[in-house]
Amino acid sequence: MKKGIQSIFSEVAETYELVNHVLTFGLDILWRKKAAHIASKAGGKLWMDVCSGTGEMAFNLSRQAGEKINVISVDFCHPMFVKAKKKKKRANIHFTLSEASSLPFPDETFDLVTISFATRNINPNKDTLSNHLKEFYRVLKPEGRFVNLETSQPSVKIIRKLFHFYIKLAVKHIGFLLSGSKAGYKYLSFTIPRFYSPGEFSSILHNAGYSRVTCHPLFFGISAIHTAKK
Ligand SMILES: C[S@@+](CC[C@H](N)C(=O)[O-])C[C@H]1O[C@@H](n2cnc3c(N)ncnc32)[C@H](O)[C@@H]1O
Repeated sequence: MKKGIQSIFSEVAETYELVNHVLTFGLDILWRKKAAHIASKAGGKLWMDVCSGTGEMAFNLSRQAGEKINVISVDFCHPMFVKAKKKKKRANIHFTLSEASSLPFPDETFDLVTISFATRNINPNKDTLSNHLKEFYRVLKPEGRFVNLETSQPSVKIIRKLFHFYIKLAVKHIGFLLSGSKAGYKYLSFTIPRFYSPGEFSSILHNAGYSRVTCHPLFFGISAIHTAKK
């Protein structure tokens, strides 16, 4: 499936940001800003945004970081990086093409690891997700911070049902219309309803070794920011 995911993101790279902004009515922009603000409390010198795509989160982090902190943006999809690199250059962002499950960095390298709207993509099953989370844990310094921004499951049943209905109705069709990729948005619409609730994801983080897990639900819980410490 990894090859499949890589080719899906290669196919949708050009229109990826536009589709997200349309489908979320621009909320994804605010959510990344909020996540970057929370993440920036990590301080230190070196931050990583993994599965960084077109770099929206990395650019938010880079603005929070100022000049003293460097941000490493990691992804395995070259066309997503091509889009990221077309943006106005920021001296403190560096791009690394890599698979997220085997990062080319020594243990205890980063003060902060972030991931936004990509945890679903490294979750073909709980074990694989857990192995990725352990890899992020490995490269975090002791006391380092992990911040995860992802779609979630609203706790109120009626809102959850409406959310899933909207995903079924909109993501495949609007995604296809704007990007031309049927397979891409079929896959993305499939991953959202089957992702974890805040409680389930918190316990996956604990099981992967993280401590002090917190969750900030966003917009009735359709998304959430989880933070954790090494
Ligand atoms: C839905 S996009 C999210 C991009 C960005 N983080 C954002 O906030 O919009 C998922 C990204 O994760 C990358 N990705 C998925 N699986 C990956 C893996 N196993 N290793 C590295 N990158 C991966 C994809 O190439 C894609 O760019």
